[in-house]
Amino acid sequence: MPAATPEKSDNSVRSAIARRAGRLDGVASAPGDKSISHRALMLGALAVGRTRVTGLLEGADVLATADALRRLGVPVTRQPDGDWTIDGVGVGGLAAPDSVLDMGNAGTAARLLLGILASQDLRAVITGDASLCRRPMARVTDPLSQMGARFDCAAGDRLPLTVWGARAPVPIVYALPVVSAQVKSAVLFAGLNTMGETSVIEVSPTRDHTMRMMRHFGCTVSSARGRAGMRVTVRGWQEYSAADLSVPADPSSAAFPLVAALLAGSGAVTVRGVCLNPLRTGLYDTLAEMGAGLSIENRREVSGEPVGDLVAEAGALNAVAVPAARAASMIDEYPVLAAAAAVANGTTRFEGIGELRVKESDRLSAIAGGLARCGVPVRSGDDWMEIDGSGGRPVAGTGPDNPVATLHDHRIAMSFLVLGCASRDGVAVNDTAMIGTSFPGFVPLMQSLGAPIEALTDPTDKPPGERA
Ligand code: S3P
Repeated sequence: MPAATPEKSDNSVRSAIARRAGRLDGVASAPGDKSISHRALMLGALAVGRTRVTGLLEGADVLATADALRRLGVPVTRQPDGDWTIDGVGVGGLAAPDSVLDMGNAGTAARLLLGILASQDLRAVITGDASLCRRPMARVTDPLSQMGARFDCAAGDRLPLTVWGARAPVPIVYALPVVSAQVKSAVLFAGLNTMGETSVIEVSPTRDHTMRMMRHFGCTVSSARGRAGMRVTVRGWQEYSAADLSVPADPSSAAFPLVAALLAGSGAVTVRGVCLNPLRTGLYDTLAEMGAGLSIENRREVSGEPVGDLVAEAGALNAVAVPAARAASMIDEYPVLAAAAAVANGTTRFEGIGELRVKESDRLSAIAGGLARCGVPVRSGDDWMEIDGSGGRPVAGTGPDNPVATLHDHRIAMSFLVLGCASRDGVAVNDTAMIGTSFPGFVPLMQSLGAPIEALTDPTDKPPGERA
C-alpha cells in the first residue's frame, strides 16, 4: 500500500457494507502506531534540536497533535520524503498559544498534552469534537492540580477547558486510581519540567511507550517494583537532545486485516513491522489461545520497541474467557475480538472491561448493540460481556437499511466491517468517516486483500440510518 497522505484518506466514505470474504490474501502495511506517534511529536517538541520521525501515523488524531504543537511555537514539518521533523524547543520552551487547541477526536493527545502544559508557565484553551467533550478529564486534572496547575473545565470535568500551567510545579508521587497509560504519561510529561523527581505507581501494568521513548531520547527514567506496584520516576529539568526514531506499525490497527484473515474462508495475510510491546499484545495472546493460525516472524527491535511480522491464516477459532488482568494490554482490541468471538466455537466471556464505556464511544454498548443487530447472541453487564459464537458458520449480518451504528467511533466501524467478512448477508455500517482518525486508507487496503467492501451512497449523500 502506498504511504497514505492526510489528503488521500478515505475520510469522505460515509456508509459502507462488507460482504463475506471467500479468500483474503496478501501483505498489508498497517499505519504507524498511534500511541507512539503522539509521543514522538511531543517528546521531540521538548527535546533540544531536530528530531526526524519515520513512519508517523498521518491519521487525524496525530495531525491534531502536530497542529497543537505548532500553535505552541514548535516547528513541526512533513518533509517531501514523508518523514516528519520536529525542531524541539527544550523542556520549558513552549509559547502561549494565541488560539484554541482543538484536539478533534483524540483523547490520548488531549490528556498527554494537558500533562505537558501543566508544568509550562502559560495559559491555553483545549477543546475537541462532541465525542472528546464527553470524555472524563478529571483523571488527569486531579494529579496535575496536585502539581500546581489550575483548570477551568466544562461541567463534569470535561472539555472545553482552560489550563494555567504551574509557574513553579511541584513533584508528586501519584498512585494511579485508574488503569490508564494516558494518566501515567500525563504525569510523567509534567514531571519533565518540574524540579525534582516525579513518580507514578501502577498496580496493573499499562503500555510503557513513554518510558521507553524517554530512554530512547537519553532521559533518565527509572522503574522499580515495590509492594504497591511498579513505580516509574522521571527526573525533572533534564535537557535532553533530539533523537531520530522509526514508528512501528500499530498492533491495534494491524488487528483489523489480521482478524479479517482469520475469519475469511481461506488465505493468509501478513502485516510487517508491527509493534509487539508486551503490554500491547493481549489480543494476539488471546487469539493464540483461541487456536488461531497466527505466527510471528522476524522479531527485532526498532527505536526501543520490539517489532515483528505477523501472519494470520484462515481457520476455526474456539471461545475463551478473557481475564480482567489482560484488559490493559488489549483495551482497544475488544471490538475486533468481539467479531472473532461471534464466529468462534462456544461462548466467549470478557471481564473487567468497564473502561470501554469511556472510549471514543461507550464501546461496551456499541459492541453489544451491533452484534445483536447482526443476529449474534450477546449478553452484557457493567463491565463484562458474553458472546455466543456461531461455531464457524457465517453470522446473519445486517443490510443497508438497518446498518450498525458506529457512534462516530473508528474502531467500531472497522470491527463490524471485519465481521461482515464472515457474514451471510453482509454487515453495513452507517458511518465510516472516523476511520481516518487512526487508519487512513483502511477500506482500499482491505479491498486490496480481497475483502468485498463497498461504499454505500445515495443522491442525498446521507448514510442509510439518516435517510428520510
Ligand atoms: C493510550 C492509552 C489507552 C488507549 C488509547 C491509547 C495511550 O487509553 O485506549 O487508545 O496512548 O496511552 P487509557 O489510558 O484511557 O487506557
